[in-house]
Amino acid sequence: MIHSGNAITVQMLSDGIAEFRFDLQGESVNKFNRATVEDFAAAIAAVKGNNDIKGLIVTSGKSSFIVGADITEFGDNFAQGEAAIAEWLGPVNNIFSSFEDLDIPKVAAINGIALGGGFELCLVCDYRVMSTAAQVGLPEVKLGIFPGFGGTVRLTRVIGIDNAVEWIATGAQKKPEAALKDGAVDAVVAPEKLQDAAIDLVKQALAGKLDWKAKRQEKLDPVKLNPLEQMMAFNSSKGVILAKANPAQYPAPKLVLDTLQASASMGRDDALKAEAQGFAKAAVTPQAGALIGLFLSDQVVKKISKKHEKNAHPVNMAAVLGAGIMGGGIAYQSAVKGTPIIMKDIGNPQLALGMKEANTLLSKQVERKKLTPAKMGETLARIRPTLSYDEFKDVDIVIEAVTENPKIKEAVLADAEKSVRENTIIASNTSTISITRLANALQRPENFVGMHFFNPVHMMPLVEVIRGAKSSDEAVATTVALAQKMGKTPIVVNDCPGFLVNRVLFPYFGAFDLLLKDGADFQQIDKVMEKFGWPMGPAYLIDVVGIDTGVHGAEVMAEGFPDRMKPSYKGAIEIMYDNKRLGQKNDVGFYKYELDKKGKKAKKVDPASYELIAPMVTGEKRAFDDQEIIDRMMLALCNETVRCLEDNIVATPAEADMAMIMGIGFPPFRGGPCRYIDQTGVAEYVAKCDQYAHLGKAYEAPQMLRDMAANNKKFYG
Ligand SMILES: NC(=O)c1ccc[n+]([C@@H]2O[C@H](COP(=O)([O-])OP(=O)(O)OC[C@H]3O[C@@H](n4cnc5c(N)ncnc54)[C@H](O)[C@@H]3O)[C@@H](O)[C@H]2O)c1
Repeated sequence: MIHSGNAITVQMLSDGIAEFRFDLQGESVNKFNRATVEDFAAAIAAVKGNNDIKGLIVTSGKSSFIVGADITEFGDNFAQGEAAIAEWLGPVNNIFSSFEDLDIPKVAAINGIALGGGFELCLVCDYRVMSTAAQVGLPEVKLGIFPGFGGTVRLTRVIGIDNAVEWIATGAQKKPEAALKDGAVDAVVAPEKLQDAAIDLVKQALAGKLDWKAKRQEKLDPVKLNPLEQMMAFNSSKGVILAKANPAQYPAPKLVLDTLQASASMGRDDALKAEAQGFAKAAVTPQAGALIGLFLSDQVVKKISKKHEKNAHPVNMAAVLGAGIMGGGIAYQSAVKGTPIIMKDIGNPQLALGMKEANTLLSKQVERKKLTPAKMGETLARIRPTLSYDEFKDVDIVIEAVTENPKIKEAVLADAEKSVRENTIIASNTSTISITRLANALQRPENFVGMHFFNPVHMMPLVEVIRGAKSSDEAVATTVALAQKMGKTPIVVNDCPGFLVNRVLFPYFGAFDLLLKDGADFQQIDKVMEKFGWPMGPAYLIDVVGIDTGVHGAEVMAEGFPDRMKPSYKGAIEIMYDNKRLGQKNDVGFYKYELDKKGKKAKKVDPASYELIAPMVTGEKRAFDDQEIIDRMMLALCNETVRCLEDNIVATPAEADMAMIMGIGFPPFRGGPCRYIDQTGVAEYVAKCDQYAHLGKAYEAPQMLRDMAANNKKFYG
């Protein structure tokens, strides 16, 4: 053994070729954490001191190659400030470059995922062979940063400006064919042939059949284009990339383009310095803080779900009651992810509609060649439409998604319970009815939970799992496990009106109504909130959700939290409802909707809605400053999120933030309500609450925030 560290071993194979193997001890994946970087330096020194090594292959002892840098270490590093971040990268880059500079040919044998720092290591090698099972890429922009271990420098020189900009600025993960086509890897082979193929390339290099020194030199030199050609290449790709990502919301792609443009005419070492400086600029943006935080919160949520695993019962067969919008969607999603499901309704036409929905979604995938007709058939066969409870004794979980009416639901749940086994879990997809209340209709309330999907089921990633007063750990755990199996992210919450997501959303609609009453223009509010980062403004959103659904939800919330969700006036949303304007459902709401050329509903301004709102306006006609709109809307939403933490409806800020991002489209680059409060500064945020407290309880700072401000505490870090 030439080197044996805790991340890397180096040993001689034969013919002077050594294997440089990454296998981080005590971890399931390889990553570039501090320990690996240190061991990397030691392993390079060992190779340097061994004259018998004529060439080497770089391999992984895990099923993935190297998944990237260790994101959990970013917080500490990035907190040091821009200059310190750039400085931190210098020594790491020196290690990577010293590996590149070893005077022997090196070939990366990419067996699995090689992302970020992992792929940057591959780029340091002279050649790259990729298994058909692997994927490569530089996804750092998704975290608000960009590659910092030489990836921008080397990839640009290996695959050219246009391709490199596309790879880096989109952060796309590339399959073998795409990587080979762009020249990012030199060969693609079957997994079992990978090692031999890599050794063969080293041998060819050693035999002089491949000019590996010339190939390496290209990575050390400036990009081979004259300044005019460079400018043209950058300008054309800039247009495409920046049209996709708004730099005010996602600054990293623009920052990386600027860096690439500056470093293209530099040699490697200067280009690496430029990369480090650009990287540091991106790393200190609030967006990077939010997106990295989000990645870590996602890990927290996954860990919490994993903890439930030990209590979960296996689900081999599910059932859904109701074949409507939600029931049909749930059946489709279950079938697609491999769990057979019985779909029960009260009439054949409803069942046919539920099946039609699944059929349409699957046919689209077949058209796009993402699914074979045979697989489509198999998937459809997993949904069994029925009018009876006959086969319910085989079912491990029943998801109730019938009409939102407590009496109907209670009757349906009680019937279902009689038809299933004693240990079958029963879950309700209700959006507004208390789980603890519905449980009263059951003989075995411990087997009962809420399982709140969002519409459309196949698109929306979140499932709220609601623990009622009597729900057992097994019932919660089984529902969490099924949600995961269905490809969703479950977040467990306690029971209260609106559960977590709707409880937080309704004060936001309340703030919208109050702004309109005070004389604000709903189109301005939509524009401001969309510019802030929401996928749609509140007027458009309530039109999409359905004004009737909104009014019904508001009634439930007003009853549950009258101190802050029961307005003393009739709001614009209710006025729309009174005038039978239901939103997209009947093509008139705040806006009116007409089909565009592609057959999609396009929103149009409708003077009629302004006429309806005019009589409710009691405020003086005045212009509303964008920031006032943002503050009033966001305070109502964020305060209620904090109240959910105070009331233990949701256990952690990480889960609350993830739920709002996945459930209602909270702007991801702002990291969620708790992160937004942190980034505003807790004391500054409380001061804003005080400024707007006269508007009502919804705007008053929750005690938790006052305590945090007094103790200089934040939600994160
Ligand atoms: N639509 C949404 O955006 C949304 C989002 C989340 C949750 N939900 C909740 O999901 C549930 C269903 O909503 P939906 O929008 O799919 O409603 P829907 O009206 O589209 O479908 C309800 C279905 O239930 C069927 N049904 C009625 N009584 C039944 C019975 N006794 N047995 C079997 N089926 C019966 C009806 O025939 C209908 O097909 C409601 O609780 C709703 O609050 C809806």
